[in-house]
Amino acid sequence: MRVVSGIQPTGNLHLGNYLGAIVNWVKMQDEGECLFFLADLHAISMPHDPATLRAGTREMAAALIASGVDPDKATLFNQARVPAHAELQWLLNGTARMGWLNRMTQFKDKSGKNREGASIALFAYPVLQAADVLLYNATHVPVGDDQKQHLELARDIAEKFNNDTGTETFVLPEPFIGTDAARIMSLRDGSSKMSKSDPSDMSRINLADDADLIAKKIKKAKTDAEPLPDSMDDLAGRPEARNLVTIYAALEGRAPADVLQDYAGQGFGQFKPALADLTVSKLAPISERFNALKNDDAAIDAILAKGAQKAAQTGARILASAYEALGLLR
Ligand code: TYM
Repeated sequence: MRVVSGIQPTGNLHLGNYLGAIVNWVKMQDEGECLFFLADLHAISMPHDPATLRAGTREMAAALIASGVDPDKATLFNQARVPAHAELQWLLNGTARMGWLNRMTQFKDKSGKNREGASIALFAYPVLQAADVLLYNATHVPVGDDQKQHLELARDIAEKFNNDTGTETFVLPEPFIGTDAARIMSLRDGSSKMSKSDPSDMSRINLADDADLIAKKIKKAKTDAEPLPDSMDDLAGRPEARNLVTIYAALEGRAPADVLQDYAGQGFGQFKPALADLTVSKLAPISERFNALKNDDAAIDAILAKGAQKAAQTGARILASAYEALGLLR
């Protein structure tokens, strides 16, 4: 089992990233060979400030380590330090089809009405993501639900490349999407996902938020006036209520249906304070470790540089076989 996954170092690590992906990273680092990276090359697909990206990359690395990613168990690095990602992307650009990329919902969402003004990097983003996982012959890619389409594209690219070149250069990666917490929603709107780019900070819980702020965000979270039912089916049509139950269950590592057994018949006046206490108790140790680490740039750079060296070695063989398969002399 070879596990590969990444996160963009833009904005804060929030509860959606943590429950949807990072919790699985931490579990998987004890089960197989893992490579986890900061997708800094992806981050330049949108207008950005270099100093913010530099600081954000180190900060996200600190947040991952604080969340339990252990650089002694998993290879942790930033993409920019491993040029093979960008190299392989270029090789795959010959395989990826315009029509495939045109169908990607992320490009449609992020370019909005300004498609002509979007960067080529935003359009080609999923090809770089395919390179990220194919470079290491990843078997498992733990992600939240929103990355499913990108990983299906990575499989299509791998398959077409193998067919076109008559080789078995790439292994087809499997997305590994957890069941319950794969899509944590905004606290303000149960129909949109919790996201780093939501302009309202009240929509998400950041791993670095302090206890008071967490309690305030949960208190103000949008809900309804109905009490909680005793089955998840009865939460259909109540996306905000469903989301809070999902968060509670994921934080405790239980099934949402079990949580409803404890709270059936109670209203949000009772459930929200319980959720706030639980969230604070789970996040406090992470935020403490994060605060202790986040200003130690030298230590973080050393970890990322060491991880990059290891990743480059791991990816070298497949990169070489991709050049070879295409008939490129080097
Ligand atoms: P990113 O940075 O948006 O998110 C990192 C991880 O968090 C998951 N996630 C969520 N899960 C549940 N609920 C949410 N509200 C939520 N929001 C985010 C994402 O699904 C992801 O797993 N393109 C990727 C980064 C990337 C990558 C890769 C991932 C680059 N290369 C290769 C896997 C493999 C992204 O922008 O994730």
